[in-house]
Amino acid sequence: MFGFTYRENELFCESLTVKEIIQKVKTPAYIYSKAAFTSKYKSIHRAFSEITDTIVCYSVKSCSNINILKELANLGSSFDVVSGGELYRVIAAGADPKKVVFAGVGKTDNEIIYALGHEIMLFNCESEAEVANINKIAGELGKTAPVSLRINPDVDAKSHTKTTTGTKENKFGIDFARAMQLISRLPNFKNVTLKGVDIHLGSPVNSLDAYKEAIKRVLDFTIACPDTLEYFDVGGGFGLIYDEEDVPTFNDYAEIIATPIKKSGLKLIIEPGRSISGNAGILIGEVQYTKRTGIKNFAMLDAGMNNLIRPAMYDAYHFIWPVSTEEIPDSKLFPELMGEGIYTPQDITGPICESSDIFCKERELPELNRGDLVAIFSTGAYGSSMSSNYNSHPRAVEVLVDGKEFKIIRKRETYDDIIAKEVID
Ligand code: LLP
Repeated sequence: MFGFTYRENELFCESLTVKEIIQKVKTPAYIYSKAAFTSKYKSIHRAFSEITDTIVCYSVKSCSNINILKELANLGSSFDVVSGGELYRVIAAGADPKKVVFAGVGKTDNEIIYALGHEIMLFNCESEAEVANINKIAGELGKTAPVSLRINPDVDAKSHTKTTTGTKENKFGIDFARAMQLISRLPNFKNVTLKGVDIHLGSPVNSLDAYKEAIKRVLDFTIACPDTLEYFDVGGGFGLIYDEEDVPTFNDYAEIIATPIKKSGLKLIIEPGRSISGNAGILIGEVQYTKRTGIKNFAMLDAGMNNLIRPAMYDAYHFIWPVSTEEIPDSKLFPELMGEGIYTPQDITGPICESSDIFCKERELPELNRGDLVAIFSTGAYGSSMSSNYNSHPRAVEVLVDGKEFKIIRKRETYDDIIAKEVID
């Protein structure tokens, strides 16, 4: 796992041991590797740009800390946002709002006004009603809005049912018949210019065939579009290794996606989130208690579903291993190590009062004891960004490691932060 490895019985993030970082910042904590972020961004950019000029819009929702956005902006990244709040983050990071695409099914008037004011690159629109509303608001402001149509190509990308987006049962996008009608009515919308088409099939999508089929269908549709069309935006959703799964490489995705789009003469936009941020971060919790009840062994951490909701929400698998251990992890995340051993089946849980606050069930792990630090891997994406104060736990500290240095990029919340917006008479 680039950015993280085990040496001398200790987990390292770049040149620092996780143990020494945690001694200073305590738990729960998210730790990110700057080198992992930047190398992932560079490799995805390189893989696609070798085939055709590609605009990489990092998907802010996956890991939205402004320090991360700043590092990516310095590398030339553009951004995919899904709310006014995410656009605000991009601007706060000092990035150029003109390099932003704004996706999402429910943009409010205020968000549209805000984005028009900053002259963003594209509004990815999901219905005729939305195009009509953007047209009206742009007209009132004396502007012309650059829009793209998110087509729902009705392709099942076979991702988790809660994260698939490209079939006709989903709320996302416009079907082909309605998109054709909208094209014929575009002359009524004088304050928008159709600049692009857009698809997003789900997240993560490990099937190259799904991309191939969806792109073919949408390219056929572009024949009906006016010649103002410039962009083909293929939303993210590229796979990530969480443990043992086979995931296409960036070059595999690029081959399937960039080749037909290059032929079409359109400019490619991609919106990777998880494939850049996922393996660049880990979540550390400390074992508070261990116990045996009935037939099970439990280890309770101070990190819970409030810090990482993915296992509870999607039954998601995350590789878990102690931070300090003589046992070598056996996971594709650490191909250079590949240990093996016989361990004790354990349920690792959080402190939240919900039965679903469980990170793994009956997982074979080295024995854990009170005070041990435990790493939950591949939590750079949709960890902190989906975290909450549920059960009134302060949100965790976030740390960015750069070689031998680390800095806190989000302070741990306090109890005062938790009640700060509540009105006390
Ligand atoms: N573009 C659009 C339009 C999206 O809706 C998404 C993710 C992305 C890009 C980035 O997808 P990525 O490359 O990160 O897979 N919370 C879920 C994932 C929800 C993804 C929503 N949209 C999870 O933890 O698995």
